[in-house]
Amino acid sequence: MLNIVIFGPPGSGKGTQSKKIADEYQLMHLSTGDLLREEIKKNTSVGKQVKKYIDKGELVPDAIIIKELYKQASDHVDSPGFIFDGFPRTIVQAEMLDKMLGKHNIPINIVLNIEVEEEELFKRMMGRAEDSNRSDDKEEIIHKRIDIYKDQTYPLINYYKKQDKLVNINGMAPVEKVFEKICHAVDTYKSCKKIVHSV
Ligand code: AP5
Repeated sequence: MLNIVIFGPPGSGKGTQSKKIADEYQLMHLSTGDLLREEIKKNTSVGKQVKKYIDKGELVPDAIIIKELYKQASDHVDSPGFIFDGFPRTIVQAEMLDKMLGKHNIPINIVLNIEVEEEELFKRMMGRAEDSNRSDDKEEIIHKRIDIYKDQTYPLINYYKKQDKLVNINGMAPVEKVFEKICHAVDTYKSCKKIVHSV
């Protein structure tokens, strides 16, 4: 089994790269953002609960996220592995994920940290805003999402560094180039269990 966490600020390319990684390594792609947007679209009770947080660019409470993720992961236990996209986003979520997988003796193998400069993040999200219809792709909300990332999610870098799972990926390159770097890190891990710390 291969389990990957992809991590990085809003607009860094997590979703784009996750789809490619899932195809390349036959992993189940679990994106909490996609999952929540789907609930909103279907107007479910979870969707109604989370909409106000997403619209404001704030994180959805851990308890809701963990419950939703657990449901999704349990439905795909036969998968050869997972790529967790946009989860965990807080230390509490990371600890819960370790606990949840630990019960089944399944580790997170690699954590990909995509690094992109703030100006470029902003440019990418404003570009996407033209046709994304995402309620959180608005100038003021984008700033807020980046601030929340720095405050609540960035500390996860140290959490995974301590576990020697962190791979820093330079995301300031075209999609295919970034994907090549990711594949290099994943293939190295698969062939000799070695973490490439920076690509
Ligand atoms: P989520 O959907 O996870 O959004 P995000 O983290 O803000 O990230 P984005 O989807 O905006 O960007 P991305 O990094 O995936 O980049 P993408 O590939 O799309 O979360 C949304 C909200 O849901 C949160 O704010 C929160 O409210 C809630 N939520 C979700 N998970 C949660 C959790 N665990 N806990 C609590 N709340 C949670 O690319 C962006 C754009 O750039 C695209 O247009 C793409 O085409 C382009 N692009 C990608 N790569 C490149 C490249 N290399 N060069 C040029 N352009 C590129």
